[in-house]
Amino acid sequence: MAYVDLQRRSVLRRIGGVAALSTLVGAGVWLGGYRPALRAASASTAMEGPFDVDLRVRAHPDKVAILPGAPSDVWRYTAERIVGPEDTLTPVGESYTGPLIRLRRGQRLRVRIDNDLPEDTTVHWHGLHVPPEMDGQPRLPIAPATSTTLAFDVVDRAGLYWYHPHPHGPNGGRVGFQSYAGLAGPLIINDDAERALELPDGERELVLILQDRTFSNGNELQYIDDGGMGAMMTRMQGFRGERVLVNGHPDARREVSTQPYRLRLLNGSNSRIYKLAWSDGRAVTVIGTDGGLLAKPERRRSVTLAPAQRIDLWVDFGDTEPGESVQLVSEEYQLGMMGERMGDMMDRGMMGDRMGGMMDRGMMGDRMGEMMDRGMMRDMMGSERLSLVTFAVVARANDAETLPERLAQDLPASPVQADTPVRRFELGMRMMQGFTINGRQMEGATVADDEIVRLAQTEIWEFVNNTMMPHPMHVHGLQFLVQERISAGGKTDLHDGIIDAGLHDTVLVFPEERVRIALTFKDFEGFYMYHCHNMEHEDAGMMRYFKVVA
Ligand code: C2O
Ligand code: CU
Ligand code: CU
Repeated sequence: MAYVDLQRRSVLRRIGGVAALSTLVGAGVWLGGYRPALRAASASTAMEGPFDVDLRVRAHPDKVAILPGAPSDVWRYTAERIVGPEDTLTPVGESYTGPLIRLRRGQRLRVRIDNDLPEDTTVHWHGLHVPPEMDGQPRLPIAPATSTTLAFDVVDRAGLYWYHPHPHGPNGGRVGFQSYAGLAGPLIINDDAERALELPDGERELVLILQDRTFSNGNELQYIDDGGMGAMMTRMQGFRGERVLVNGHPDARREVSTQPYRLRLLNGSNSRIYKLAWSDGRAVTVIGTDGGLLAKPERRRSVTLAPAQRIDLWVDFGDTEPGESVQLVSEEYQLGMMGERMGDMMDRGMMGDRMGGMMDRGMMGDRMGEMMDRGMMRDMMGSERLSLVTFAVVARANDAETLPERLAQDLPASPVQADTPVRRFELGMRMMQGFTINGRQMEGATVADDEIVRLAQTEIWEFVNNTMMPHPMHVHGLQFLVQERISAGGKTDLHDGIIDAGLHDTVLVFPEERVRIALTFKDFEGFYMYHCHNMEHEDAGMMRYFKVVA
């Protein structure tokens, strides 16, 4: 599970399995004065203009003030609009977050991506239905100091999507590292169907990107280092930061008036699952998911948001007095299974046996015991309460709107029929190597026979989770419907908050659970990917290609 050569360039500072980001990338070497000498243009699209939107997106190192005191080294996207409506690009806060790209359904987009990072990267349009060559897959890396030009038609429904890197080399993935360093941004598609509903917009449409981060005393971002038991456990669990940033800012606060707002949340965290709730106990009103608006609002005490998922919330501050505030929080939860299971496995000597070659069994046991004492195992499967955003009501407004009980009318009906084939994916674990899908891990752009699907065909994919961790399973290039969720392991603290209605590109599969999704492989032949979106899991190989053939 090597973390490539950048790491080996520098002495790592180890803090319980966590290393400083800037030591990983060799601060001063890369982050400061890195300038590509000559930009070579690589792959470019055959798609013809005219283009309604033409953008340049640059991925590059930078220094950004996140916490009080010293600025932090980050990697980030900045963008420039060559052609397109004025609102195509808007900054998201004043931190590292990539700009909000706002597109309209029907536009033809061209975007040139400049890689000014010291390593390969790609830009993946998470959730969008684009041809394989435009999908930012790891088989199409953009080398340092080169550019790639992509182009596609914007065909998806109105919704919140996002863009992030997707590199994966022979030594493993760099998605977790690059995203953590700051490379991620939101992308909104608007369309007429949505506009007709007159939902809150302008000042009252807030994009909120949730990411957890850990900082050193010197404000350096900390990520997993290369060695030791702590690092191994962190990779199994997925990296979780000590504090939550919203749009790259700590202690997020928004001033609002006594009116309805539309909150568009993206979980851009590497692995943390949020249990969203309001501090005053009011219901959380959900109007949309990954692939856009629901047919009708869903109201819950709390809403579960897994990595890579988006949720569209409607909230009316009309009954909150000016001077008061309400918080959006992530409530405490326990998934509870991990601790017991690990205990079991240790009793049976399973961990020790499997890890035999790597590590002396006695030491393994000791370390495990120590970690369990420190509550680390328990933490792996739960989260404490976190405050996300404070909404301070500062002004009174009179034009209250009510939320229509009928929202989207353009959701597809279930394409499933009696003879729709079922394809099964067993999620498993390989000790010391990470998680698997049908016993396999990422092996470049190769597909097995059972990873080839037919163009225009509808299938049911069934994810069966045989591990003790939840996995947010993502499929590229399409939106799917969740057909069925069968929990043999009983309900967890997070089950009540699951929204299975609507369109999704990422679905959370709990331990001992089977989730069936319905998907249709439309329009484009070629390679796509499916994987767990716990970024440490995907980087360690819980990711595969599939191929669409005519
Ligand atoms: Cu959000 Cu394959 O990625
Ligand atoms: Cu994706
Ligand atoms: Cu996973």
